[in-house]
Amino acid sequence: MTAFLILCLLAAASVHGDVTGRFSWFSSPDDTEDPQMEHVCLTDQASCGCCLMQQQMKRMEEFFNMSLNELQSSLQMTTNIINSVRASRSAFSVALTDVRVCLGPYRDIRPVIYKHVFINLGDGYNTTTGIFTVPRSGVYSLSLTVYSDSGSPGASLDACATLIVNGATMFGPHDRNDQDQEDSSTNVVAMQLQAGDQVAVNLPIGCFLCDNNSHFNTFSGFLLYATD
Ligand SMILES: *[C@@H]1O[C@H](CO)[C@@H](O)[C@H](O)[C@H]1NC(C)=O
Ligand SMILES: *[C@@H]1O[C@H](CO)[C@@H](O)[C@H](O)[C@H]1NC(C)=O
Ligand SMILES: *[C@@H]1O[C@H](CO)[C@@H](O)[C@H](O)[C@H]1NC(C)=O
Repeated sequence: MTAFLILCLLAAASVHGDVTGRFSWFSSPDDTEDPQMEHVCLTDQASCGCCLMQQQMKRMEEFFNMSLNELQSSLQMTTNIINSVRASRSAFSVALTDVRVCLGPYRDIRPVIYKHVFINLGDGYNTTTGIFTVPRSGVYSLSLTVYSDSGSPGASLDACATLIVNGATMFGPHDRNDQDQEDSSTNVVAMQLQAGDQVAVNLPIGCFLCDNNSHFNTFSGFLLYATD
């Protein structure tokens, strides 16, 4: 009996068939359609048991094949999503300068070009133009910190700058007084941006920024999540 069972298993291992639908233990289109199987069942009871086992094994194989295919395709989908998230990673954080420098006040609006790069993941920020070009549509966190030092207490001081998207002002940290020597201000916002949008910082008329390698003036942005 043992030898017979092994033969059966060997035979079952060579059974091939098409996956025609979901697995069912109770019905199969070819249950009664195999003339060879009917013949064997009529002539040999033991062989019949073997054939039924072959059928069951074939259905199990189909079932496992189908489950495996489903798992493989969801794994592929997940891998694609992870790759797309990796490809869209975007974060920049820059500071004004590495040496002592002051900008303004000017009689016209000027771009502020941040030269010290903390991080520029995805190379969205251009240190020549000072423009961050949005690599992928999504919700971004943008922040701008301004700092100024008038040089002496009581001197007039207007620490300010504006963050612009495609030329339009979005927000502008601002601190103006004439009481002390140093002033600073910060804005942080989350914003929906489209791929190709240009984010930059302007120095409006009268604004004054100072920095050195302490990096008091920073401009940062990163993708929270993509929306395309
Ligand atoms: C199960 O998958 C294997 C490999 O793709 C294939 O050779 C075999 O015929 C399939 N079996 C059934 C019952 O569909
Ligand atoms: C930065 O912008 C300048 C001027 O448009 C351009 O020549 C340069 O190739 C850009 N740099 C990078 C790294 O894209
Ligand atoms: C940078 O500037 C701040 C304030 O203006 C000053 O206190 C500090 O000593 C400066 N750092 C250097 C390295 O000059």
